[in-house]
This record gives sequence, C-alpha cells and structure tokens, in this order.
Amino acid sequence: MAELLLGQILRFGGNPLHEGPDAARHSARGGVLIEDGVIRAVGEADDLRRQHPQAHVTDYGAAVISAGFVDAHVHYPQTGIIASWGKRLIDWLNTYTFPEEMRFGDPEHAGRIASLYLDLVLANGTTTVASYCTIHPASVDAFMAEAESRNLRVFAGKTCMDRNAPEGLRDTPQSAHDDSLALIERWHGRGRLSYVITPRFSPTSTPEQLEALGALWAARPDCLMQTHLSEQTDEVAWVRSLFPEARDYLDTYERHGLLGPGAVFGHAIHLEPREIDRLAETGAAVVHCPTSNTFIGSGLFDLSRLAARGLRIGLATDTGGGSSFSMLRTMAAAYEIGQLRGNAIHPSVLWWLATAGSAASLRVADRIGNIAPGMEADLVVIDLESTPAVAQRARRADDIWQALFPTIMMGDDRAIRAVWINGRPVRRD
Ligand code: GUN
Ligand code: ZN
Repeated sequence: MAELLLGQILRFGGNPLHEGPDAARHSARGGVLIEDGVIRAVGEADDLRRQHPQAHVTDYGAAVISAGFVDAHVHYPQTGIIASWGKRLIDWLNTYTFPEEMRFGDPEHAGRIASLYLDLVLANGTTTVASYCTIHPASVDAFMAEAESRNLRVFAGKTCMDRNAPEGLRDTPQSAHDDSLALIERWHGRGRLSYVITPRFSPTSTPEQLEALGALWAARPDCLMQTHLSEQTDEVAWVRSLFPEARDYLDTYERHGLLGPGAVFGHAIHLEPREIDRLAETGAAVVHCPTSNTFIGSGLFDLSRLAARGLRIGLATDTGGGSSFSMLRTMAAAYEIGQLRGNAIHPSVLWWLATAGSAASLRVADRIGNIAPGMEADLVVIDLESTPAVAQRARRADDIWQALFPTIMMGDDRAIRAVWINGRPVRRD
C-alpha cells in the first residue's frame, strides 16, 4: 500500500554550497508519497491527499521530513572506545583503537557491536554509513549481515594493514587482496550493500600492499576506495619519512593506483596546494569529520577553499575518533570550525552536507540523500521542539533556517521523531 507522509518538507533542487540557500526547497505543509520503497511524488499535502485517497497517511504535523542522514566515514568497531580521553592520533590508535579492533576476530563480538552501532545511528536519524571494519573478514560479514537485516544501504570494507600495527592486527599484501576480493564477491551489490576497498592509511600499509589494493581496484572499479589523508601534522611528517620518494601524502596513494573519482579521503586537513589541485583534477571526494578533528586535536578543515575547487565533500562522525554518533552534533561542529575559519556556514549547507553532499561523496546522490521522485525512501523526521531549550528558541523563528538551526546546534536523538528505511518506518509514533 502507498504511504503518504505529511509535514514540513526539506529537500534540495541544487547545491547550496554553490547556489546559496535558494537551492533548498521547503514546503511548510507538504507530503511525500512512497510506494515499494521508493518516493513516487513530492508536493503540497492537500494536493497529494486528493490525488492519492487510498494512501495510508502519517501526519507529522510541524515536524520536518528530510532525507535520512548519510555518514560518509565511520569506524563501527570503535563504538566501544568512543570518548576515550587524552590522546592525539597515533597514540590514540595504539592505546585505544588497536586493542579494541583486535577483538573483532571473534564473530560474536563483531556481531554484537555491529548491531549496537546500527541501532545507535538509526536512533540518531542516520540511514546510510560508510564504515571501516577491522582486518578480520568476519568483521565485514557481521556488519553487512546486520545492515542487511535492517534493509540499510551501507558501504563497508575490511581495513587493510601490514605494518606499524600490532601482531594479530596485520595482514599481508596478498591476503589483503585475496580477502578483500572474496568479500567483494560475497557482499558487493547484494541488495543495498556495497563493498569499499579500504587501506587504513599509508603509515600502516607497505608500498607492496598499496600496490596490491591498487591492482584490486583496477580490476573492480565498481567499488569505492576509502582511506585517510592528512589528518594530523605528525602523521603527515611520518608519511614523508616512510615514503621519501613520494611528492606528498596524496602521491603515496596515487603512485599505487589509489586515486580516482571513486576515491573517498577522510579528513584532508593539512593539504599542499598540489594535493588540492590533484584531488580536483581526478574528481576524488573528501570527507569532513569535524567532531573528530577537534576531539583528537587534528586541525580545521577548510570547507570554503575545497568547495571553491569543486571537490565533492561529505560530512561524517568518524566514530570513534569523533565524539558523537549524531549528524546533528556533527553539523554543529562543522559550523563551529567554520566560525574559527571566519566562515559562517549556512544551515542549508550544513543540512546538504549531512544528506545530499555525503551521498554525492559516495557516488549515490541519484539514489539517497534527497527527496525526489524515483529516489529510495530513506527518511528522517525531525521534531523542531525536542527539548525546552531548543523549543523556546525555535518558537521565535521567522523562517525554516532559524527554526532548524537550534536543533542543529543543540539537538540530539530526542529530535528524531521517526526514521523510514526503504519505505518502511523503523519506529511508529
Ligand atoms: N587514521 C588511521 N586510522 C584512523 C582511525 O581509526 N581514526 C582516525 N580518526 N584516523 C585514523
Ligand atoms: Zn577514520
């Protein structure tokens, strides 16, 4: 049966990073008609009711119906070590991350954390994530199985590392290639699941491993490739010493076949001008992880500079280097970093980054991340008055952006009134 959702509708007709807030489309009393998991129509509530009298109606009143959030860079295995105190990147990896990732050789542990993680992000209105797993193929199997059982569109890959990681958390060039290929054959394109070729970052892969994964990507260009780039200055210096022949950090990937339009680079903060030129020329995407960048002390992502070069830019929590599962909190942190750079990022841009922008960074903007006929019905419904503090501010608003901004800055999972996945409600009122 057709489902008709009524409320305020927020969607995009263009990219507000380039076209300004007018690229957004807002209806104060609109509707979304869904059938067979797909959005069939968007319009004014009264018109849709008249045109589709048989549809089952859910009226969300003054709540905002939007595309579900797309979190373009996460590490689901780090759920249990989120908010760990006192370390910067390399120490944080060695102290907290690697010991926890070691546990994912146990399929039971992997399944438990994958399930917990997906429940947490759904409660926060996130309907798609791109996750790093651990070196263990079982960590991918667990995540894909849990995502499939919830009918989620997700991206994930086995994290490959063959050096500078502890015994028990290292593979080899050959096993990284072969295990990744077997996982591609098992999961990629099955329902809503996509496999992502995932070298962790240049410091934990030998040139031979990067070469093997470059060859795999050349054989399977239908997969995305995700990794980390220029997150902290110490890390950049380490990469220079490990790859003395490379022109810069990005070149350590490019020279091994790991740069192209399907490449998704997390962080991308401390970039040389040549790296920005090359990212732009090759059509690669970068992902802004603002709560992580302040939490681990990495630096300030330069959104306006990279957007001006036409790069595709996604937004992400980077759980558990990031300090939140919420894309609302992540938008707030992006706003704060923008302020520190002298750039007051408009709420339309924040919302776009968390939905359509992230979807574009994963090359699925034609399927998810927006509300339009033909797109998959992954939706979030936002209560603009979820707490007394948010409500008292929202009630003074003169337009949708003033009404939404208090929820962006102060909202949490209490603002998530409902989530729809592939045309089905996850929680009913
Ligand atoms: N760089 C390499 N691995 C990681 C990771 O797990 N988290 C973050 N934030 N940066 C990384
Ligand atoms: Zn990361």
